[in-house]
Amino acid sequence: EKGGYEHFMFKEIMEQPQALRRAILPRIREGEVCFEDFGLSQDYVRAMSKVYIVACGSSYHVGMVGKYVLERLTRRPVEVALASEFRYMDPIVDGSTLVVVISQSGETLDTMAALREAKRLGAKVLSIVNVVGSSIARESDEVLYTWAGPEIAVATTKGYSTQLAVLDLLALWFARVLGTVAPEEYHTILDEMTRLPDKMERVLAERDSIQYFASHWFNHNSIFFMGRNLDYALGLEGSLKLKEISYIHSEAYASGELKHGTISLVEEGTLVVALGTYDRLFEKAMSNVVEVKARGADVLALTTESHSGEMEKTADGVMTIPDTHELLLPSLGVVPLQLFAYYVALMRGCDIDKPRNLAKSVTVE
Ligand code: M6R
Repeated sequence: EKGGYEHFMFKEIMEQPQALRRAILPRIREGEVCFEDFGLSQDYVRAMSKVYIVACGSSYHVGMVGKYVLERLTRRPVEVALASEFRYMDPIVDGSTLVVVISQSGETLDTMAALREAKRLGAKVLSIVNVVGSSIARESDEVLYTWAGPEIAVATTKGYSTQLAVLDLLALWFARVLGTVAPEEYHTILDEMTRLPDKMERVLAERDSIQYFASHWFNHNSIFFMGRNLDYALGLEGSLKLKEISYIHSEAYASGELKHGTISLVEEGTLVVALGTYDRLFEKAMSNVVEVKARGADVLALTTESHSGEMEKTADGVMTIPDTHELLLPSLGVVPLQLFAYYVALMRGCDIDKPRNLAKSVTVE
């Protein structure tokens, strides 16, 4: 049942290219995004005043990435809220707000409560869900399934990457309807999306180097993730994955916030995972690496092939992903972070598929 692998989590990490093919390829026809059984009309999209993304845990982190992608492509305001907060925050939502609910299981109680609150306020609810026929799917106005297949490990991997791919497609479709993306960029991003599964296979093929880095740092008690913009959103997921299964305390920071507090925790030997995949902010990422190195930190960096040479001059270890369109970088960048968390937990002898105190779907408040 684990396909010859020791853990479901590893199996599910390895399944991601195939899961992405299922989530993406049938939805691109003749160079256009095309959703099956989809009831949102173009008029509805044109009248939409804002998008509110609501989710928990890793699904919320997908929303954090999605905010950058949606705002950049559609020029419409996007808010992201934790479902557990949204339900009590008296959110500014009305009939022109699209609420996008993201849930792998489709059964998370807080997310379900937020969905009901959104509907009560008159919003239309579109959900991105993996489990077909789940409660959230049934109560939503529109559903886009992620088609990742069953996910057994408590730590989500293929759930995250397929949710992100579906949200990217949705952003592209909105942008096409609204005319807020240049046709050339639209086609470039779509082409790159079709290449993501193969590029992800290349990332997976490099897993031995990630295992090596894990063997070097698995004994640390506290790890920081830092990045800007899309890399910050990605860091949130990297940090959650690591703490969830390895029980190492870890936190993700927006690099610009370092000087506003976090850097006081950086001392000789602190591990900082520096995310620098985003091309236009690469120089800023480098200067933050230099800054924490100067305070004695060990730096494990994540960057693209085109920047790895430069990063290697300063960082202690570099995880590399293929170049792609900048908005798609988190889809590839998440894989080394999943693998790092996995190998660290393995070396620490943790119960990877069933970490202590956690359940696959959280059906209590
Ligand atoms: O099934 P859902 O996507 O609604 O679950 C949300 C979170 O409980 C979930 O992502 C959780 O954070 C994962 N265990 C993270 O790996």
